[in-house]
Amino acid sequence: EKGGYPDFMLKEIHEQPRVIRDTLAGRLVGGALSIDELDLSVEELNLIDRVYIIACGTSYHAGLIAKNLIEGWARIPCECEVASEFRYRNPIITPTTLVVAVSQSGETADTLAAIRDARVKGARVFGITNVVGSPVARESDGVIYTKANKEIAVASTKSFLGQVVSLTLLAMLLAQVKGKLKMNQIRLLFRELADTAEQVERILAECGPAVEEAAQACKDARSALFVGRGMGAAVSREGALKLKEISYLHAESYPAGEMKHGPIALIDEGFPVIAVATKSPVYDKLVSNLQESKARGAMVVAIATEGDEEIRKHADHVIYIPKVRDAFSAITASVPLQLLARAIAVARGCDVDQPRNLAKSVTVE
Ligand code: F6R
Repeated sequence: EKGGYPDFMLKEIHEQPRVIRDTLAGRLVGGALSIDELDLSVEELNLIDRVYIIACGTSYHAGLIAKNLIEGWARIPCECEVASEFRYRNPIITPTTLVVAVSQSGETADTLAAIRDARVKGARVFGITNVVGSPVARESDGVIYTKANKEIAVASTKSFLGQVVSLTLLAMLLAQVKGKLKMNQIRLLFRELADTAEQVERILAECGPAVEEAAQACKDARSALFVGRGMGAAVSREGALKLKEISYLHAESYPAGEMKHGPIALIDEGFPVIAVATKSPVYDKLVSNLQESKARGAMVVAIATEGDEEIRKHADHVIYIPKVRDAFSAITASVPLQLLARAIAVARGCDVDQPRNLAKSVTVE
């Protein structure tokens, strides 16, 4: 049932191009985006003036990526918050607030409690879940199903990508309704989003040797820092979570610009710094952060854009991925980080599908 793969995690990582295609199928109708399941009229959508994305763990990281897109494209203030915090504070919710609850399992206790609370306070709630008929689906005003199909490995990979693509569609829809993106821009974005399926296929086919080399370099470390800026900062959060979950290696993520405000003190000879260093508007800033780490002895692994030779001066190991628009870079850049976490875990002799102390769904608080 592992389809010839040594573990479910690797099988599920390889299903991601299919997940992207299935998530996008049927969404562009007559040149316009359509998400019928949302059950809100264009007028109601147009009134939305605040968005909260609430989720836990990996799903929360998908939300961090979407926050950038919702604010960037639709120009609606958007916060992304972990459900266990959201439910116990007093967020500002009005009838024009949209709460987007993201949950693979659709039964995470904190996320469900946050949905209930938000509805009592009058928010409209959209659920994004992978499980048809799950509590999150039943208790939301509208639901988008991620098309990941059943995910068996405890560490989430293909559902994460399904969530990112679904949230990207939602951000585009909000921008379309608000008139912030023109129809021709929506069509262009949609085409490029669809192209990421092929780009992920290429990453899966080509980046194995570079991932393995980086994994060998990291496997005996005691700790690793993941850094990025902009979209890369959000992606690096997920990279660190994946690594700690399955390899038991301590990992944390920092926006690269924060390094000199504390974390750089950790860096000594050979300390792994894993950087999401794809071409973006903040690429040069990131490179100067890498130089600062390297000058203190860091062993830098960079996820970089194909054709970027300069990055080799600042990194010991480079994993190249195809060039995509910055808005879609989370989709491509997260794939080598999933593979890297898995390769390090395998090299350390860990059971990647069943990490200790973790359950696939967390139905207790
Ligand atoms: C990480 C992971 C967890 C879940 C989190 C939320 O790989 O799987 O962090 O993302 O427990 O679960 P859902 O999305 O089911 O609400």
